[in-house]
Amino acid sequence: MAVCRCKTPLSAKKTRVMIILRTVNDVRDYVSSERGRGASIGLVPTMGALHDGHLSLVEKAVAENATVIVSVFVNPTQFNNPEDLATYPRKEEDDFRLLAGAGASAVFAPTVEEMYPGGPEAQEPHLFDLGQAAEVMEGKYRPGHFQGVAQVVSLLFRIVQPDRAYFGEKDFQQIAVIRNMVKSEGIKVDIIACPIKRADDGLALSSRNALLTPEQRKIAPEIHAALKYSMDYSHSHSVKATHDTVVERLDAIPELRVEYFEIVDARTLAPVDEWEESPWIVGCITVYCGKVRLIDNIAYRIPKA
Ligand code: PAF
Repeated sequence: MAVCRCKTPLSAKKTRVMIILRTVNDVRDYVSSERGRGASIGLVPTMGALHDGHLSLVEKAVAENATVIVSVFVNPTQFNNPEDLATYPRKEEDDFRLLAGAGASAVFAPTVEEMYPGGPEAQEPHLFDLGQAAEVMEGKYRPGHFQGVAQVVSLLFRIVQPDRAYFGEKDFQQIAVIRNMVKSEGIKVDIIACPIKRADDGLALSSRNALLTPEQRKIAPEIHAALKYSMDYSHSHSVKATHDTVVERLDAIPELRVEYFEIVDARTLAPVDEWEESPWIVGCITVYCGKVRLIDNIAYRIPKA
């Protein structure tokens, strides 16, 4: 076990100590000692290259749990494209500094070998029951992606045994799929969905934004701008017209290419044809900006509290 000492942004005098865990056994020992002192445990699973979106999850977890463990692991089994895996940004030192500053108690940053002894291919095949939610959108365009997400998240849940786990709503579909996985595997954990964090120009924060060229970075906020515009538009137009206006507006920009845009029931992720079909309707989009795949979403209808 190693420790990372870091000044918090709140006070120049305060120094936080964050424990760095590299092995499954280290995590188990740490969790059992934290449980021994009666601590509740929050887990924030990440693939690193952290930004303010991740830090907002950590801050929420810190407010709601005595002990917060953040995992930093680029999970190879959820990448269906080897180039995407190879170019995924990795910034371990910066990540640790940011996590200590945000008040994480410990970071779990294992190797691939530690998570998948003998390599990912050597694992017992286990197909998760992820329901219909995993078949649409990302499930259609990234075959095997959600099985890989379910594999690593269920493994993390079994190692850490958190009371609560925190995920960002940018990956709206991922949260629905993880909820299904937790149910079908009988894992006891509260899944906490946290709002999307955006840059000042509206671009949803994402580790992949680091891969954009300065020119692409200026164009990428058009994705959120089109979604925002379509929100007003949806009040006087059909679902199909709202869909088409978003796709036409974005595809007209040479650097952008919409992979899919689906307007769905937020609970089932099944496409809707009419606004009256569900009290909770979300539009989920994936757009290539050059070679960088960006995702975002917007809620068109939200149930009244
Ligand atoms: O959202 C992510 O960063 C990843 O899919 C997750 C949940 C950390 C699993 O690798």
